[in-house]
Amino acid sequence: MKLSVIGAGYVGLVTAACLADVGHQVCVIDIDKTKVQALQQGRIPIFEPGLAPIVQRNIEKNRLHFTCDMMAAISFASTLFIAVGTPPEEDGSADLQHVLAVANAIATHMDSHKIVVTKSTVPVGTADQVRSVFREKLLERKVAFSVDVVANPEFLKEGAAVADFMRPDRIIVGTDSEACRSLMREIYAPFNRQHDRMMFMDTRSAELTKYAANAMLATKISFMNEMANLAEQLGADIEQVRQGIGADPRIGYHFIYPGCGFGGSCFPKDLNALVNIANKVGYRTDILQSVIHVNQRQKLRLFDKIQAYFSNNLEGKTFAVWGLSFKPKTDDMREAPSISLMSAIWASGGRVQAYDPEAMGAARDLFGHRNDFSLVGSPEEALQGADALVVCTEWHVFRAPDFELIEKQLSYPVIFDGRNLYDPDRVKYYGLQYYGIGRGN
Ligand code: UDX
Repeated sequence: MKLSVIGAGYVGLVTAACLADVGHQVCVIDIDKTKVQALQQGRIPIFEPGLAPIVQRNIEKNRLHFTCDMMAAISFASTLFIAVGTPPEEDGSADLQHVLAVANAIATHMDSHKIVVTKSTVPVGTADQVRSVFREKLLERKVAFSVDVVANPEFLKEGAAVADFMRPDRIIVGTDSEACRSLMREIYAPFNRQHDRMMFMDTRSAELTKYAANAMLATKISFMNEMANLAEQLGADIEQVRQGIGADPRIGYHFIYPGCGFGGSCFPKDLNALVNIANKVGYRTDILQSVIHVNQRQKLRLFDKIQAYFSNNLEGKTFAVWGLSFKPKTDDMREAPSISLMSAIWASGGRVQAYDPEAMGAARDLFGHRNDFSLVGSPEEALQGADALVVCTEWHVFRAPDFELIEKQLSYPVIFDGRNLYDPDRVKYYGLQYYGIGRGN
């Protein structure tokens, strides 16, 4: 089938590449010329494991095309996926101007029936707004083409986006049209082989499903972080509690890892957007606001421990920071707990010496100008001349460190472990002090 994808950002690119890989003809349009030129040569602008080879082989097979020409993308296919950004406005609501501008451009130039599929995470009611853009524009143009608007949110995790797309848990499709239902079935048939993963519903429910999924996951994390903080006060070990509660299948083991807070481009943004959506209809979201609040506090939890350990005197101290990205397998530092931690250290007169396997570029862009920040080439190098070690991201390379070396290198033999990577007894055996999240101390 011929498909167009509008927006070559994270969602658009993964969607387009995976759709092409199962045999569809896909045209991707983006207004950023440099990005399009790089993509035409198979160079991808984001770090996502497994994505580059898919893009390259589908360009070679002539199934994946990149262009800056909106008209070409509109006439290329009758099904158009909108995957442009919905950045947060100052009040936290999602800015729909790009989505609506794309709808307007399609409505202005289309010369046949179109099916417009919204892939971006959009406020509940957006499909209805997009429908009215088409209604008005087509009326103004006095043409009789019809348009179907389908809500089809993505559930991709950074670092696992290709696998998530290729083997989805569910494919949510919001539509009231039987024809769109069978069209979407056909598009997604290659991803829907063993079990039926397709779920059809109305567009508003589909749009809310996306927000509700992220809000539920974020709630699990903030809940566990609250339990972890409580465990500290009570002298309990949250890691044992985690295993104890996870064994109940109604709770489950997923997404109950306490830590130094959640970050990334989705959870914080989507939670704020959902609070805003609720405000607009006059509903007060007590749980969501608490989830946000607990997370903001949690991002400073390691810093509080550091302050207490050094009796509020960080002046001139150097901290080795392991891990800067908001989670492993990504170079993304958006809303990362490492940013809150380092900013607090800097505000107290401390220095940071950091290492991350993938996020060094992002860190350089954000903080490269600071003279109290340096990036080094390995975890061991970060320890040289450092006073203490702080772990912010659970990259594999940090999981089995040389504790003897750590003990030798640090002026204060102490590890602040924001991801509970280490066994406290083992760490203490090497003469190091250990502060995790929710581990009795
Ligand atoms: C998330 C959703 O998982 C995905 O379905 C949606 O489409 C986009 O948002 P992503 O932002 O890539 O994906 O990250 P995810 O793997 O979900 O992790 C989010 C944050 O939660 C990370 O900062 C991670 O460290 C934290 N986290 C996760 C915890 O602190 N504890 C956990 O148990 C799980």
